[in-house]
Amino acid sequence: TEDNRIKRIASSIRVIPDWPKPGVMFQDITTLLLDPLAFKDSIDLFVERYKDKGITVVAGVEARGFIFGPPIALAIGAKFVPMRKPNKLPGEVISEEYSLEYGTDVMEMHVGAVQSGDRVLVIDDLIATGGTLCAAIRLLERVGAEVVESACVIELPELKGRERLGDRPLFVLIKAK
Ligand code: PRP
Repeated sequence: TEDNRIKRIASSIRVIPDWPKPGVMFQDITTLLLDPLAFKDSIDLFVERYKDKGITVVAGVEARGFIFGPPIALAIGAKFVPMRKPNKLPGEVISEEYSLEYGTDVMEMHVGAVQSGDRVLVIDDLIATGGTLCAAIRLLERVGAEVVESACVIELPELKGRERLGDRPLFVLIKAK
């Protein structure tokens, strides 16, 4: 059942206290990747949700959106587009700055990879404050794409990232403390 699949996924994620700094409970999906059934269940749940939604592009957010995005894109017959940290993409890029707890970061996407009229699914492993997903959505909307939904394996509801997304839809498999 779907419930059993969610439970398997949840129990395969390792939580590492005080990493990368004190007070943070790090949600480590590398242990999910060590459980092929849990990894497949996570991909299958996304594929079942998005296969008939006319998605033309799966946009994966560096770094762990590069793990979950491509198998989903292949399964639903969509393009995969990487949303990267600055100065990583070799071609012409468009950039979007976003705020972190301390300071700012920049996300980049290749010009021409996503076009006006594309129907995009944004994928990352986790939403915390929502700043990263918001930047990805802004970049995609600036080139005229329609962001159909954002999806993550894990949501940290206490950080209210969902509120930051406003009325942009967000789908997650697991809500963590
Ligand atoms: C983590 C996570 C998301 C982002 C979520 O990435 O994988 O991409 O933070 O945080 P937010 O909702 O508060 O914006 P991280 O900063 O660890 O970068 P990395 O994936 O490149 O390691």
